[in-house]
Amino acid sequence: MNDSAVDIKNIKKTFGTFQAVKGISFNIKKGEIFGILGPNGAGKTTTLNMILGLLKPTSGSITIEGYDNVEDSLKVKQLIGFMTQETVVDGYLSARDNLTIFAKLYHVPENEIEKRVNKALEDANLKEFANKAAGTFSGGMQRRLNLVKSMLQEPSILILDEPTTGLDVQSRVGMWDSIRKLNDKGITVILTTQYLEESDALCDRIAIIDHGEIKAIGTASELKRMVSEGNVLEITLKPEDVDKATKIISNKFKLKLSVEGDIIKGDIQKDSMGLSIKIAQYLEKEKIHVLAYSVHLPTMDDVFIKLTGASFRDSTSSENVASQARFRR
Ligand SMILES: Nc1ncnc2c1ncn2[C@@H]1O[C@H](COP(=O)(O)OP(=O)(O)OP(=O)(O)O)[C@@H](O)[C@H]1O
Ligand SMILES: [Mg+2]
Repeated sequence: MNDSAVDIKNIKKTFGTFQAVKGISFNIKKGEIFGILGPNGAGKTTTLNMILGLLKPTSGSITIEGYDNVEDSLKVKQLIGFMTQETVVDGYLSARDNLTIFAKLYHVPENEIEKRVNKALEDANLKEFANKAAGTFSGGMQRRLNLVKSMLQEPSILILDEPTTGLDVQSRVGMWDSIRKLNDKGITVILTTQYLEESDALCDRIAIIDHGEIKAIGTASELKRMVSEGNVLEITLKPEDVDKATKIISNKFKLKLSVEGDIIKGDIQKDSMGLSIKIAQYLEKEKIHVLAYSVHLPTMDDVFIKLTGASFRDSTSSENVASQARFRR
């Protein structure tokens, strides 16, 4: 049996002279939650639009459950449900009426509509709010309504463009619950995200994309193992001490380091807590004041820095600018 949901072969997309997607390939298996993780402008929406057949790749090919998404575009449309980056609900209508109208738009058979709308309300945890105007809902509730709306045609693949961007932590967890519920029923989920933590908590596999290129693909733990077999040492210093300390640590302790602002990071063995203390003491002896240091398992942030040579770029599209000074958490 073919267990491939989406197969992408070397797709490129050029807008004028700008290459937004630079030849990416990956395969998504049926039943997976697959995350495409990348900062603003990385090429996430462009990639999704090409999967959906809304945008024609400059070159390369995409098959959805074995069907070519250009030649068999009608079949492919039936297989995929899509939730855009913007929430589209009518605030004056109740949750139930919003869903009923969309079920009609999607040509759901008349005798099926009530059943599917009830199921959608349940999947979104909105049963008790079914008859309330959607405009009175919180951002998270509206987003969940939008999510189940894309399930009304009963697709086998669900594509979600940044389903939780801009939501508070609690609403984000509510969205994860609804996404997991749908996935438990066998739906393949492809989502884009700017949140490292989301890719870690929700996705079976993750493709890290930056500047239109895939930097790595794997499970969160595979990606973390790529960064380090052991632990990550993190030392925070005054900005003026960073260069000197980097030289000392790499020369004296032979560690491979990366620098991120006023933080120096290095890979150390699992059992080398002693070494990290020695380094901190040595720096103090050299009159370099260590503001903070820690030893931890690699995080998705470490993965991103290692693969791209940079921290998650700042972005301005979220309301929550303060929390994403380095990346979105
Ligand atoms: N129609 C277009 N014409 C010209 N450039 C475009 C077009 N669509 C996207 N781009 C550019 O391609 C790059 C990738 O855009 P894309 O929307 O795919 O990024 P993204 O990863 O979805 O970002 P975000 O997180 O902000 O949604 C960006 O530099 C963008 O400005
Ligand atoms: Mg986008």
